[in-house]
Amino acid sequence: MHAHAITDTVSAIHANVETTARFEGIWPIPHGVTLNSYVVKGDKTALIDLAKDWAGSIDQFNEQLASVGTSFEKIDYLILNHLEPDHTAFLVELRKRNPRVEIISTPKGVAMVRNFFKIAEGLREVKTGDALDLGKGKTLEFFETPNIHWPETMMTFDREDGILFSCDGFGSYGSLGERVFDDEFTSEEHAFYERESLRYYANIVASFSAFVTKALDKLGSLPIKVIAPSHGIVWRKNPGEIVSRYAKYAAYNSGGAREKEICVIWGSMYGYTKQGLDAVIAGIEAEKVPYAIHQVPDTDASFVLADAFKASALVIAMPTYEYKMFPPMAHVLDLFERKHFVGKKALRIGSWGWVGGAKKEYEERIAGLKWDSVESVEWQGIPTAEDLATLTERGRELARLVKQE
Ligand code: FEO
Repeated sequence: MHAHAITDTVSAIHANVETTARFEGIWPIPHGVTLNSYVVKGDKTALIDLAKDWAGSIDQFNEQLASVGTSFEKIDYLILNHLEPDHTAFLVELRKRNPRVEIISTPKGVAMVRNFFKIAEGLREVKTGDALDLGKGKTLEFFETPNIHWPETMMTFDREDGILFSCDGFGSYGSLGERVFDDEFTSEEHAFYERESLRYYANIVASFSAFVTKALDKLGSLPIKVIAPSHGIVWRKNPGEIVSRYAKYAAYNSGGAREKEICVIWGSMYGYTKQGLDAVIAGIEAEKVPYAIHQVPDTDASFVLADAFKASALVIAMPTYEYKMFPPMAHVLDLFERKHFVGKKALRIGSWGWVGGAKKEYEERIAGLKWDSVESVEWQGIPTAEDLATLTERGRELARLVKQE
C-alpha cells in the first residue's frame, strides 16, 4: 500500500485496522477503523500523529512511509495532536528507533509524554499561535482544541495548503481500504461512513460536544481546504460536509435540533414487557413517526447510543429485575448519563413480577438529564386490555410531542 499525496509536500498514510478487538476496549468495530497519520516535508520532515501497533498497523505504516522516501528512523519531528494510545502507543518503540526525533505537543500533551510514556528528552511544548518551520516555506501552525477528545488535544494547520490535521475531530469508524479521499467514495459508501461517523461521535466525542462547538468557532476563520483527521476519510473535495455534520452532532447534545424520530430500546425477560411495547409501537406507527428499535443486551450499546443520540425521543421498555432496573438497560442509561444525552422526550414502560422497583432507580438515574417524560406505564405480569390501550395512547402521545418539536 502506498501513501496518498494530498499535495506535493503532504501525504496521508493510514492503517486499516480490522480486528475483533474493541475500540477503547469498549466499542465494537465490525467494519474496522483507520489510524491516519500525515507526512509533511520541507527541508525537515514531520510526521503528524502516530498509531498503536494494532492488527498490522505498523507494517502498513512502514510500507507507506517508504513510498514517500522516509521512515520512522528518518523523521525529524513527531507532532502529537492527541495522546490517546490509539495514536501514541508506538511512541516508546519509535523513540528507540529514532532517538533524535523531536516530539511536539501542547504543554498537557508533553506532560503526558513524560508521565504516561516515561519519555523525558526531546520534547517541545507548543500553544495556540505557535508554529513550526520545516524549511522550504512549509510552516505548521498549532491550535489548542482541548477535549476533542482529551484535555491535551490540539489541531495542526498547514496554511500554505489549507490542510487541517484534526486527529479525533471529524473522525469516523470504518476501515477505508485502499482509498482515503472523499471524492473516491460512492454515495452509498458515504452513507455507510456517515452512520459510522455518527456512531463514533456518539461513542467517543459526545461528552465533549460543548468543546466541539467552541473549536468550530475557533477554527471557523481558517482558510481550510482539506480536513485530514486521524480516523476515516480525508476530505479534500467537500470538507464542509464533515464540518457541518460535526456541528449538527454537537448541537444534538446542547439543545440544537434533533431528528424527529424515536429510538426504542427494550429488554424483556419472558415477553410481557415486549407485549406492552408492541402496543406502544402501534401508537407510534399510528402517528407515522419514524423509529429505530434495539433490544438489549442483544444489540451492543455502541449502536444503541448512535440512534438514541440523534433521536428527539426515547422509549425505554424494561422489566423490574430484583427490585431494580433490568441490568442491560441500566448499562445503557449509565452511558446516556456519561455521554450527557440531555433534553430528550421519554416514555418508560415495563412489567414487574412480584413487586416493582425499576421506577425508583430509573428516576434517580435520569434526574440530571432533564428529560421531558410522558407518564410511565407499569403492570404486573401479562398486560391487560386496558393496559394495552393505555400503552398505545402513551405511544401516540410521545409521537405527537416529536411532531410538535
Ligand atoms: Fe483516536 Fe481519542 O483517540
